[in-house]
This record gives sequence, C-alpha cells and structure tokens, in this order.
Amino acid sequence: MIRHATVDDLAAITDIYNHYIVDSHVSFDLEPWTPDQRRNWFANYGGDSPWQVWVTELDGEVIGAAWSSPFRPKAAYDPSVETTIVLKAGSSGRGLGTELYRALLSDVDARGAHRAYAIVALPNDASVALHRKLGFVSLGVQDEVGFKMGRYWSTMLLERRAPPAG
Ligand SMILES: CC(C)(COP(=O)(O)OP(=O)(O)OC[C@H]1O[C@@H](n2cnc3c(N)ncnc32)[C@H](O)[C@@H]1OP(=O)(O)O)[C@@H](O)C(=O)NCCC(=O)NCCS
Repeated sequence: MIRHATVDDLAAITDIYNHYIVDSHVSFDLEPWTPDQRRNWFANYGGDSPWQVWVTELDGEVIGAAWSSPFRPKAAYDPSVETTIVLKAGSSGRGLGTELYRALLSDVDARGAHRAYAIVALPNDASVALHRKLGFVSLGVQDEVGFKMGRYWSTMLLERRAPPAG
C-alpha cells in the first residue's frame, strides 16, 4: 500500500534512513537523525504544503519513504522541489521504488511544481536508473563535492520537468 505518511510512520522512516547515514555514502548526513529531529522536520510536510512524504507498506510494515522538499531556501526557488527516496535495506530491485516514486511525483505534479531535482551520490546505479526511468535527466556531476567515510564522493544532479498542462 502506498499512501501519505503520518506521524506514526516517523520511527520507521527514521530507521530506514539512518541505515544509509551510518552505513553508506548514499546520504550525505554524517549523524543519524533522532526521533525529535524527524518530528520537527515532519511539521513542515503534509496538508496543503508543497512538500509531502509518501510511504509504502509491505505486509503491514513501512518499508520505504519518498518525499519532496524545498530545493533551495531562497524564495525564487519555490516552484522547484528536491525529491528523495529510500527503501529499507533488502527491499531493492523489486519494483517497489518505481511505484512509490511514481506516487510522489504524481503528487508533486498535482501541486504544481515546475521542476523536481534529485541529487544522487555516486555510485548508485539503482537510483540513477530509477530517476531516468521516471523522466529525470542528468544535468551533470559535481566532482568530489562531499567527504564521508574517509573519502570524497561525487553527486549527479538530475532534473525532471513538469509534464505539459492538459
Ligand atoms: C534507489 C532505490 C529507491 C530504487 O528502488 P528499487 O525498488 O530498487 O528500484 P526498482 O526495482 O523500482 O527499479 C527501478 C529501475 O532501476 C533499475 N535498477 C534497479 N536496480 C538497479 C541496479 N542495481 N543497477 C542498474 N539498474 C537497476 C531497474 O531495472 C528498474 O528499471 P526497469 O524497470 O527499466 O528495469 C532503492 O534501490 C533504494 O532505496 N536504494 C538505497 C537507498 C538509495 O540509494 N536511495 C536513493 C538516494 S538518491
């Protein structure tokens, strides 16, 4: 089942995302999020906000989350969002990411975002493939833009244009 997230999903979202903070380069956070930080973050999402969090459940368990966030803090960037997706470790490669991201992007379109951007830390073949499949195109690579786990990492910036109206 794919649906908007509620506050009750935050523990699962925190666990899923923290795994990638601690164990991989995929998230550029260096410290795991606390439940309080995640609750404060969530206060800006949902309802009429342009920023939304979606989750997917399998057998009653939340096993993935995807969200749209502000792209940059300055106001002229407001028509653009940044999108992110994470599945619980071990849930990849079964089409679940495609279904969840499709739901998020359809919501992003319905709320009138002009552009969606994703920033993918490389290498991440699954994420690059998912983004390309759902209409993102690469705008290029920022070379060694981040430093984590003792080395530099590059990121790919991907852009998705809103589908034409009508
Ligand atoms: C990235 C992620 C969300 C993709 O979701 P997923 O459920 O694994 O992807 P899907 O099974 O829906 O596959 C989407 C497409 O990517 C392709 N793909 C999946 N894994 C791949 C891989 N390892 N290498 C190349 N292509 C891959 C699939 O073939 C599919 O394309 P197709 O339908 O044309 O065959 C998921 O793997 C994940 O959560 N990874 C860890 C966290 C992460 O990296 N998040 C993204 C941060 S930018």
